[in-house]
Amino acid sequence: MKVKKAVIPAAGYGTRFLPVTKAIPKEMLPIVDTPTIEYIVREALESGIKDILIIVSSNKNAIVDHFDRNFELEHMLKEKNKLDELEKITSVTNECNIFFVRQKEQLGLGHAVLCAKEFVGNEPFALLLGDDLYVGEEKPALKQLLEAYDKVETSVVGTLYVDDWDVSKYGICSLKDFRRLPLLELDSLIEKPALEDAPSNLAIGGRYILTPKIFELLETQKRGAGNEIQLTDSINRLLEYEKVYSYEISGRRYDIGSVYGFVDATLDFALKREDIRDRISDLIYKKRG
Ligand code: G1P
Repeated sequence: MKVKKAVIPAAGYGTRFLPVTKAIPKEMLPIVDTPTIEYIVREALESGIKDILIIVSSNKNAIVDHFDRNFELEHMLKEKNKLDELEKITSVTNECNIFFVRQKEQLGLGHAVLCAKEFVGNEPFALLLGDDLYVGEEKPALKQLLEAYDKVETSVVGTLYVDDWDVSKYGICSLKDFRRLPLLELDSLIEKPALEDAPSNLAIGGRYILTPKIFELLETQKRGAGNEIQLTDSINRLLEYEKVYSYEISGRRYDIGSVYGFVDATLDFALKREDIRDRISDLIYKKRG
């Protein structure tokens, strides 16, 4: 069955970005001039998915407003013949159908994903976490995963290799096969293990294609790491019913949920922009000198 729907959880508190996230959703923090969540929505669109559900919590109305029409602003931009600016605020919303659902309590990623059950129905779906921003070498990260899904027609978890000191921040994979191929069958998963308990350095990288069976498992999922309802624990249980694969995503990944990753992405994206590239690189050079 073809994957036609994507889910983006955006309900977390954003504690790594306080104080700014006290009143502003972390998903609205801009990389140069575009909110981080817009890059994630564009990745889904560029991968061929138009129906997108964003899971929000209270205090996240700015995300809803961002993807809504703003007729007054559109009218003003038209009047002043600012057509490039008009395109910037309408292109994404014109191209896809964005839906919202509210997570009433923040009980963890697994609990947030369960809020997508009605929207997804009985189909496989794509899941994109907003803290992971990818710049694919040739194809968007999600497109790579969708192509892997087409081969195996079961759940696929996007992965990346991480350093030892980062292992305890991620869901970690144990594989059935020790060859280093992009698409391999998973044996088990463990969320945020201590380094000595980690079966490998292959981490879940915030992109998934999941079969709808996951919802049944999330409904009965007990709390795990951090006393939260963990998606990783339900995918681990999913392995008792069906095969699950890992797919090593190719491309550059930024952890924009961390201040370091966010600044790294900001600099790289600014240096890719023709209009400001030269001045930004001069600026960096002068500051280092
Ligand atoms: C979540 C997942 C984890 C995954 C990570 C990727 O953790 O629970 O399995 O490796 O995203 O960014 P979080 O970063 O929300 O703690």
